[in-house]
Amino acid sequence: MKGLPFIFTSLLQFLVLQLATAADTISPSKPIIGSDTLVSSGQSFKSGLFSAGNSSWYLGIWYNNFPDVVVWVANRENPLADSYGSLTLSKNGSLVLLDQMNNSVWSSTSSQVAEDPVAELLETGNLVVRDKAATASEIYIWESFDFPSDTLLQDMKLGWNFRTGHNRFLTSWKNDSDPSPGQYTYGMDNVPLPQLVIAKGAKKQFRTGPWNGLRLTGTPGSSVSYEVVHPIFVYNTTDLYYSYEAVDKSVVTRLKLSESGIQRLVVNKGSTTWAVMYTLQYNQCDNYGVCGANSICKINKSPVCECLHGFVPESWNEWGVLNWTSGCRRGTPLNCQKGEDFLRIRNVKLPDQLDFRVILSTSIDECKAECLRNCSCVAYTKSDIGKGDSGCLMWSGALIDMREFDEDDREQDIYIRMPFSELGKSSRKGKRVVLISVLSAVSLLIVLGFSCWYIILKKRRKKRASRDSKEDLELPLFDFDTIATATNNFSHTNKLGEGGFGPVYKANLTREEFIAVKRLSKDSGQGIEEFKNEVTMIAKLQHWNLVKLLGCCIQGEERMLIYEYMPNKSLDCFIFDQSKKALLDWRKRFDIIMGIARGLLYLHEDSRLRIIHRDLKSSNILLDDELNPKISDFGIARIFGRNQTEAKTKRVIGTYGYMSPEYAIDGKFSMKSDVFSFGVLLLEIVSGRKNRGFHHPDHHHTLLGHAWLLWNKNKGLELMDSCLDNSYVKFDVLRCIQIGLLCVQKLSLERPAMSSVVFMLGNEGAILPQPKEPGFFTERSSTGTDNLISNGTITISTVVAR
Ligand SMILES: *[C@@H]1O[C@H](CO)[C@@H](O)[C@H](O)[C@H]1NC(C)=O
Ligand SMILES: *[C@@H]1O[C@H](CO)[C@@H](O)[C@H](O)[C@H]1NC(C)=O
Ligand SMILES: *[C@@H]1O[C@H](CO)[C@@H](O)[C@H](O)[C@H]1NC(C)=O
Ligand SMILES: *[C@@H]1O[C@H](CO)[C@@H](O)[C@H](O)[C@H]1NC(C)=O
Ligand SMILES: *[C@@H]1O[C@H](CO)[C@@H](O)[C@H](O)[C@H]1NC(C)=O
Ligand SMILES: *[C@@H]1O[C@H](CO)[C@@H](O)[C@H](O)[C@H]1NC(C)=O
Ligand SMILES: *[C@@H]1O[C@H](CO)[C@@H](O)[C@H](O)[C@H]1NC(C)=O
Repeated sequence: MKGLPFIFTSLLQFLVLQLATAADTISPSKPIIGSDTLVSSGQSFKSGLFSAGNSSWYLGIWYNNFPDVVVWVANRENPLADSYGSLTLSKNGSLVLLDQMNNSVWSSTSSQVAEDPVAELLETGNLVVRDKAATASEIYIWESFDFPSDTLLQDMKLGWNFRTGHNRFLTSWKNDSDPSPGQYTYGMDNVPLPQLVIAKGAKKQFRTGPWNGLRLTGTPGSSVSYEVVHPIFVYNTTDLYYSYEAVDKSVVTRLKLSESGIQRLVVNKGSTTWAVMYTLQYNQCDNYGVCGANSICKINKSPVCECLHGFVPESWNEWGVLNWTSGCRRGTPLNCQKGEDFLRIRNVKLPDQLDFRVILSTSIDECKAECLRNCSCVAYTKSDIGKGDSGCLMWSGALIDMREFDEDDREQDIYIRMPFSELGKSSRKGKRVVLISVLSAVSLLIVLGFSCWYIILKKRRKKRASRDSKEDLELPLFDFDTIATATNNFSHTNKLGEGGFGPVYKANLTREEFIAVKRLSKDSGQGIEEFKNEVTMIAKLQHWNLVKLLGCCIQGEERMLIYEYMPNKSLDCFIFDQSKKALLDWRKRFDIIMGIARGLLYLHEDSRLRIIHRDLKSSNILLDDELNPKISDFGIARIFGRNQTEAKTKRVIGTYGYMSPEYAIDGKFSMKSDVFSFGVLLLEIVSGRKNRGFHHPDHHHTLLGHAWLLWNKNKGLELMDSCLDNSYVKFDVLRCIQIGLLCVQKLSLERPAMSSVVFMLGNEGAILPQPKEPGFFTERSSTGTDNLISNGTITISTVVAR
């Protein structure tokens, strides 16, 4: 029994070998027919007929060791109906594939004619036709490498032969079992600077950065493959192509294009299976133009898209739900006359060459000057194209498909045009005016003496004074007496509540018109200028879910903030009040959660400033007459720089129960500490219970701990406020709780950004991660907590605006 299979296989091998030697080359008198195959000299490749799908036969080339891996197909669009085909070589050197009826289904096209042609499958997998008589055997009349299918083998070229105008590119199979041409192509885009592009039809899916004279930029990730293959890039007057060779000749490797992008596959020494070494287009930032115009993709950030400095989303609503397609536009429009400069952005994939110009052999300074001269130039950079001096690249119009790389990838920098206001500089023209006037003042000083100097100084001061008062006008100043009258001299009956920085009063300006007045404590220690600065800052924030600041009032020591009046007071008056709870059904509660999330997203990411609220809690959520939520009390809010993510303070201000661990313990606050507070708030709204002071007969955890325990026991619904029976959809509630738990996770890094929160709340289909342990998940001793956190709300009335 044991001997039989052995005899069997050796017999088969013998047969194959005989066929192979019989058909090593094709000449006009010797076609290969039906199941004959052509074998390359070193036996790596075979060519012959193979079937794919249902009753379709193709002429192809495949690996001898891997008959399933077809690397080239001749008659992709025109299959044979059966295996009775023959490949013949005509007298003039054209390969022709004939079907059973001797009709031609495919033929090679070449402009050259051979005297005495012979066809041969080379060891590289290249099927060539050459002239037997030709002295140099390397000159081919036709070669299959010039007409790639979906695979790029070693020695194949991807790109242009400028002499013949022929472009070689890969075209995917329709699917794994259908070799006919699919929608995807991969080739050399010969726009001013060459770059490799994967496209689906006419739409780009991925591109490398442009050729910079030394290498293709913007593909640092594929450098890992340098250990296996050595890339070859040729760009001169006759040729432009990409090719590669294996570093270790015993490693078999190929590049394959399919729906999932470009993959580099290898068979390692001693192995008999193919492994995927890398896939181009392997992360979100590789998708062409994923962030839209004038934005940058940062793979380590969440969400990945950011507008470039000085730009804002074209559509806040779309941006808020992570739809970045419409991109960003300038916050402050450019004004070429007023003077501009450039902002350097380091280590990026250069934008696509859509409206683009290259100037060879200029210095970087000339490049900058050239870009500055032309008002339509929005960005420039240098590159090593051209000999000697570097070249100058300039973009006009939208900047598409930029991404940021890691520090150590050492990609290129780009310089983007900005108005001075975005660079924090005064106008250059302004500077010049000052310079000139100072110079003339000096000369006048010499000529005319002190008097003139004095006049100029006085004039300038006057100018500044008038400019300052103009700025003040942005926010209405209310008269102290009017306010006093409207609040009945700050009478107790008009008092609405006590905020962090002092009492809040209701005031009726007229019979119908109400406002809310917050009278700041006198010991706030804040100067008039600081107060004004802050008030103007808050007044600029305009969002449906933020309470609107109408103006302020300053008189002597008195500081007051005037807000729109919210008849329904604050959220805590509803959710924690047994008699009013039921007024907020599940739908309404969900709307309130969504509203708060939107307001917070605006503060964090969508307003001109980046604001950390630091004191988000139920009593700071006001409700208007339709119970729409409005975030209020920016008393301890902090402004962050656009790129700042975290700050530290020695004085921890805020409200226990809502503070994240890193803030309460280390004084570190960030957008993620606001997210924590939001999570607490969300769970409070769902449960109708306060986080702080929460008691449960079975354990001593806070509300967060309680929610987490229930969640892990699959009993999330038990967290629900019992008065909500019947008004909710189970799935929605569980989803909400899950999002709440994600927001209160212990590690700030793991909490989602508000943009993701809004997205998750708004999209039922979004897949949510499983939450991890919440912050402060340690059981309190029954009294311990109150020792730790002494007085409920700590309020220190210093408002720090930076
Ligand atoms: C196509 O394949 C199916 C199943 O694989 C088979 O039943 C059918 O006969 C085939 N059709 C032709 C025309 O070969
Ligand atoms: C070579 O011959 C084939 C048919 O025999 C013909 O179709 C083809 O056009 C010829 N090629 C040239 C370059 O003359
Ligand atoms: C096809 O051509 C070959 C060789 O010229 C010939 O032997 C064969 O009979 C032809 N077949 C048909 C169906 O004409
Ligand atoms: C491949 O595409 C053909 C049609 O082009 C289709 O009939 C076939 O089912 C597809 N096969 C797979 C595996 O998707
Ligand atoms: C361009 O480069 C190719 C490959 O190195 C070479 O064969 C060809 O001669 C070059 N052309 C010119 C004009 O230098
Ligand atoms: C994103 O916005 C664009 C244009 O504003 C719109 O056409 C597209 O449908 C949106 N995509 C999604 C997934 O909502
Ligand atoms: C400015 O740049 C645009 C776009 O690159 C170009 O079309 C135009 O000719 C340039 N103008 C000048 C004066 O160089």
